Amino acid sequence: MKVLLLGVTGNVGSRLLPALLAHNHQVIAYVRSPTKISPEAKSKITSVVVGSASDSEAIKAAILSNNCDAVVNAAGLPATTSFSSQGEFPAIFTAVVKAIVDAGRERGTGPIRCWLMSGFGILDSPKKPHILLDYMPLFPAHRGNYQLIKSYAADDLAWSLFAASQMNPKYDTAQFPPAADTSADNLVARANAPPAWTQKFRWVPLIGNYLNVMVQGQSYFAVLENCVDFIAADLEKGHKSEWIGKRVGVKEKSAIK
Ligand SMILES: NC(=O)c1ccc[n+]([C@@H]2O[C@H](COP(=O)([O-])OP(=O)(O)OC[C@H]3O[C@@H](n4cnc5c(N)ncnc54)[C@H](OP(=O)(O)O)[C@@H]3O)[C@@H](O)[C@H]2O)c1
Repeated sequence: MKVLLLGVTGNVGSRLLPALLAHNHQVIAYVRSPTKISPEAKSKITSVVVGSASDSEAIKAAILSNNCDAVVNAAGLPATTSFSSQGEFPAIFTAVVKAIVDAGRERGTGPIRCWLMSGFGILDSPKKPHILLDYMPLFPAHRGNYQLIKSYAADDLAWSLFAASQMNPKYDTAQFPPAADTSADNLVARANAPPAWTQKFRWVPLIGNYLNVMVQGQSYFAVLENCVDFIAADLEKGHKSEWIGKRVGVKEKSAIK
């Protein structure tokens, strides 16, 4: 696939690049700071488009002029709590989604496939109708982003939200090709809820559901290179992916007891 990648100069985006290449995708990088791209990464990118991730028209133009089949957004960073300014992240998410929808409509060949980085908190909690964010109020902007994406019809957007907890890189820098000891095979994944969730502490009166979420949260830390391999491998399935229209939770197989 021809993939427009936003955020290639960041922690997640820089590792997404080698993963996408390893799965035979061509990468068009959309960046605001092209000088931050390493020479090695630059040599492997099909083309670089310079612009802001909150400029919807420019992103749409990048998708259409490069004839991209898919978009992966790793641009922007949410504020940790609702007590601080939410910064540009909600505007970036909105602009990227609008660009993808508008580009798809303009091209008229169906919805564009996209993976959008989100957070663990948007997954369903075991106590319906709550999501994990209701118990663990970190990175609150993901809630609004999830509501936005749900408001679009399936024929406008073939979305998946990657709802990982903290992702820790195994290697300090992006590896070309990705290291053999990192792979999506090291993960289990589940649609809309965290995989391998247990009922721990839910019996505790009043605070049981909070304890249940807080105590298990850390066991969902994942290896970043495994996560990006998951996304890149899934994009090979195109519109046949089982993750379209889903929030996707992952867990390291080694963390399952
Ligand atoms: N890291 C994790 O453990 C983790 C876990 C769960 C979810 N996520 C999600 O993954 C996403 C990326 O996280 P990260 O850790 O990779 O963040 P990061 O290292 O801070 O990277 C953010 C990227 O966004 C780019 N960016 C920011 N504002 C932009 C703008 N206006 N126009 C163009 N590019 C812009 C930055 O470009 P510059 O280099 O130019 O600043 C950088 O490439 C976030 O949405 C986060 O919520 C991350």
